[in-house]
Order: sequence, then C-alpha cells, then structure tokens
Amino acid sequence: MVETDDLLALAVRLAREAGAIQRERYETELDIRTKSESIDLVTEVDEACEALLVGTLERERPDDAVLAEEGSGQDRDGAEWRWIIDPLDGTTNYAHGYPRFCVSIGVEHRGRRELGVVYDPLLDELYQAVRGGGAFLNGRRLSVSAEVHLGQGLLATGFSYDVRTTRDDNVAQFARFLKSARAVRRDGAAALDLCYVAAGRFDGFWEFKLHPWDVAAGILIVEEAGGRCSDARGGPPPRSGAETVASNGHLHETMLAVLAGKEAD
Ligand code: IPD
Ligand code: CA
Ligand code: CA
Repeated sequence: MVETDDLLALAVRLAREAGAIQRERYETELDIRTKSESIDLVTEVDEACEALLVGTLERERPDDAVLAEEGSGQDRDGAEWRWIIDPLDGTTNYAHGYPRFCVSIGVEHRGRRELGVVYDPLLDELYQAVRGGGAFLNGRRLSVSAEVHLGQGLLATGFSYDVRTTRDDNVAQFARFLKSARAVRRDGAAALDLCYVAAGRFDGFWEFKLHPWDVAAGILIVEEAGGRCSDARGGPPPRSGAETVASNGHLHETMLAVLAGKEAD
C-alpha cells in the first residue's frame, strides 16, 4: 500500500528527530516532575519529544487520530489512521542517566496494527515493521530466537508505577520465572524489551498494566519477526497493553503456564 510506505517513512523520520532530542539532552540538567505516583516521572524531554511528534503530525497528517502518552494527541472519531506514541519510553532510566530508552511509534489502520517504529538513539538502533512485511533492525531482517528450553532462556519484565501499593504487583510471577529461566532482566523500557524479543536477544517478555503506547509498535515488531504475543491466557494481546506476553513462540505455552502458577518443566 503506497500510503503505508509514506507513513513508515514519516514514522522513521519522526522517531529519528525525537531520538536526536533525547541524545542531545541526555545527562544534562533536566526539569523532572512526578505524575500518577512519586516514582512515575516526566521530564522536559518527554514533553519536548511529544511536542515535536504531535506538532508534526498535526501539520502533515491533520485527519489522523493521535494517542500520545503525555496527553497532547487529538482523538479524532472515525479517523482511518491512528498514531500511538510513547515520546520517551524509559523515562526513569533517562532521568538517572541509565542508557536505555527509546521513542516508540505505532500506527493502526481501522483499529488494526499496521506499522511500528522504535528508535534507540544512543545505540542508533532503528527497529521497524509493517504488517506482513517482516521486521528489521537498521535494515537487517530480524527473527526471534530458536530457544526451546525455558531454563536456557533470557527473559525480561517490568513493574507498574503502582508497585508499592498494589497487590497485583507481578512479584510472584517474577519470582517463579527467576527460578525457572536462565535469568530475568528488568531494564525499564518495555518497547525496547519487545524489540529485543524480536531480535532474539531476549527469548521472552511479560508485563501487566502497560499502556497502548508501550506496546503499539513492539507487538507488531515481535510478530513480524516470527514471535508470538498474547494476553496472559494465550488470547490476542490487548491494544490497551494491560497484559502482554511476548516470546519466540517456542517458549510461549511454558511462559503462560508459569504465569498461571504452574511449575515449569
Ligand atoms: C515504562 C517503561 C517500563 C515499564 C513501565 C512503563 P515510561 O514506560 O516501559 O519499562 O515497566 O510499566 O510505564 O513511563 O518510561 O514511558
Ligand atoms: Ca512507556
Ligand atoms: Ca513514556
């Protein structure tokens, strides 16, 4: 589809431009505030990236709907195309000078994931996928790992910002995987975690209470790299991000079983 090619080119350009802001202001003195919880941060760079992304879309794609994490997008009823944007995924890392964060841009066509772009500006790694066209990292085709044994798998997860107060805190699941996988990482940028599953660096990832902007690009990138994404019971991964399990496919059922409280083989 010609329009998809144009949208992909625009998404790549936007991701690189926002990534350049992140790179330039990385490890500089930042204005940092809190949002939903005392550990939920937003920096002036999240806002500068979102202003660039949403402002450009307003000018160049005025009929499209935009959902952006910091709230400046326009939800246009009946729009054919919808952009779902995390202007800076990994804000806590960014605020601490921990070099793992990215821009994530997903685009839906009539409610179906159509393309995704994730850009890590420090490594200059650009992940992209178009439905049915495969997933790529800097132009190299990606495929998920071939690992079939959970005990030899490297997994990743994350915890929501209400972790201090909720009972639904992912700690029991984390403990079970810690004892059944080779190792589990909590690296603080869910969109990149998903891309690492696509690239075969991680064999699986799960997280609860994510948001649409965390997963809109990454789920498509995993699927286009040959992986599987689902909710915690094996159904389609919700667009809300409320439950996300992603894997190389081989480990998926085992991961679902561990999430359901069963011992891994
Ligand atoms: C967060 C990161 C983190 C995940 C959190 C997300 P943010 O996004 O992706 O890895 O564990 O659930 O909210 O706030 O840095 O954009
Ligand atoms: Ca995020
Ligand atoms: Ca964010």
